[in-house]
Amino acid sequence: MSDKPVYVTQPSMPPLEEFMPYLEKIWDSKILTNGGPFHQELESALCSYLGVRYISLFTNATIALVTALQAMRMTGEVITTPYSFVATAHSLLWNGIKPVFVDIDPDTLNLDPAWIESAITPHTTGIMPVHCYGRPCDVAAIQKIADTYNLKVIYDAAHAFGVRDAQGSVLNHGDLSVLSFHATKVFNTFEGGAIVSPDAKTKQRIDHLKNFGIVDEVTVVAPGINGKMSEINAAFGLLQLKHVDQALARRAEISARYRAELAGVAGIRVLPESDRVAPNHAYFPVLVQEGYPLSRDALYQKLREHNIYARRYFYPLISDFPMYRGLPSADPANLPVAAKAAAQVLCLPIYPALTEREQSHVIGLLVET
Ligand SMILES: Cc1ncc(COP(=O)(O)O)c(C=O)c1O
Repeated sequence: MSDKPVYVTQPSMPPLEEFMPYLEKIWDSKILTNGGPFHQELESALCSYLGVRYISLFTNATIALVTALQAMRMTGEVITTPYSFVATAHSLLWNGIKPVFVDIDPDTLNLDPAWIESAITPHTTGIMPVHCYGRPCDVAAIQKIADTYNLKVIYDAAHAFGVRDAQGSVLNHGDLSVLSFHATKVFNTFEGGAIVSPDAKTKQRIDHLKNFGIVDEVTVVAPGINGKMSEINAAFGLLQLKHVDQALARRAEISARYRAELAGVAGIRVLPESDRVAPNHAYFPVLVQEGYPLSRDALYQKLREHNIYARRYFYPLISDFPMYRGLPSADPANLPVAAKAAAQVLCLPIYPALTEREQSHVIGLLVET
């Protein structure tokens, strides 16, 4: 039995005393929100750190996804993945859009471009893929289909903070990308999110939409929402940014050790890495397959009995939840790869403060069975 519980993740928190000067500034200025100085500073710091041109901070990624769909004026049907967190599809329902699920690729566990075309109907206005676990989608194939059928692409990049491919930031693909800065993410602002946009005009529309549609005291241009990030969250983000490289480096070490020590375990499949991607090691998923002595759920249970709380991300599939399961595209027969992944996946603990001893314990339990 481990001394204290080990969860799948633990939020990164810089030393409290480093945060105090930021709080003092907020107390002095009395500027708490509405695009204040920390908000502006974090937007420009993130643009440089991530290598993107325009960013709009949000209160969380879910409201950012809802707003991104409004900004792109998406309606009708949008093609998406069932293998994600429910917020991906919920953002479509909040816009009155019908999600159309297509299956995922067995190697990336991301939307499989091979199935997208057959799901397009006269009502389709866009595609919402997810860079699941921060592992990039096949962005070139998705863009080709979008260009052919004149569709918008909004990436749910909630997991993809800092991920780079051969072209630079993975957040520059598609029409918009949405990040999450939730407590469980690689970079957190307690709660938070952002939309990455390619040009100033799009950013301006998004900034209006996240502030009730207000342009000035007497002008409202859209039925916007309140999606603004507060000064306290933005200040925390600026402090987090100072520590994020260190956090990413520690994640890389933990990931490399899992890869090395689980490589020879029969029935445990680790997803392949690409040498063209600089990853963020946001999650460490394994697939518990035939040849392993325990089922996925038995392994999950065994770890819990040893105070290790691995998580079955993503199980159940979004398409299995009651508000989606009646859709024709939610039929399990339409989504065999996703159904298999959901039945096999287990995300192991990975976060900068995970100790070597704790990781040895997790690995030991997986290997000994
Ligand atoms: C893929 C995905 N999309 C969207 C969200 C929603 O993010 P938030 O909690 O910031 O609203 C999350 C996680 O929280 C997620 O994992």
